[in-house]
Amino acid sequence: MKTKIMAIAIAIAVVLGLALGTSTGIAADVKALRDTAVNAPDKAADVFKVQDGVKHERAYRQQPPLVPHATDKYEIDLKVNQCLRCHEWPYSDQEKAPKISDLHYIDRNGVRQDTVNGNRYVCTQCHVSQVDAKPLVENKFQPAVMNR
Ligand code: HEC
Ligand code: HEC
Repeated sequence: MKTKIMAIAIAIAVVLGLALGTSTGIAADVKALRDTAVNAPDKAADVFKVQDGVKHERAYRQQPPLVPHATDKYEIDLKVNQCLRCHEWPYSDQEKAPKISDLHYIDRNGVRQDTVNGNRYVCTQCHVSQVDAKPLVENKFQPAVMNR
């Protein structure tokens, strides 16, 4: 019984080995959509510069303002929220940073809380900084114009 299982195992291994051998042979000739050989390493991703100090106007009235500074060093987790260190009153006065609006304290039932509500705790879910990347496709976006 044992030898029979061994024989079958060896047979499977041989078949698999053959299949693998032929498939790598083919892979060398196959071109990916990016016109590189499929098993060639990918080009490193582009590195973009954060537009530190650049202010962007809001494109529509309800838009969360874009962040005019880099945010990658600021930690946001269960214990720490470094954004609040500058943007929550009274630190906002000391740091001369815009104070988060009162809407950030309202819970999902419309009740005002003393601390920033959980639904606004992960700031970067809504507020993002911009980088100097070119648009990937043509973009005809126009900001909303208010009816006055
Ligand atoms: C060291 C202090 C500091 C920290 C930490 C900080 N900010 Fe700021 N932030 C500022 C200051 C100062 C400004 C105003 C800059 C200006 O007007 O040029 C600002 C501006 C902003 C604005 C623009 C507000 C508006 O009305 O246009 C947003 C949004 C913002 N920060 C979000 C964040 C987020 C999100 C984090 C955390 C990831 C964060 N900030 C962390 C100091 C800070
Ligand atoms: C669910 C989306 C959302 C999250 C999460 C959020 N915000 Fe906002 N934020 C907004 C919107 C929308 C506005 C503009 C309307 C307003 O003032 O409430 C705004 C306004 C602001 C402003 C400008 C206030 C002013 O009066 O000019 C600052 C600064 C700001 N947010 C910081 C923060 C920080 C810091 C956090 C994290 C603690 C945060 N936001 C989390 C949506 C969000």
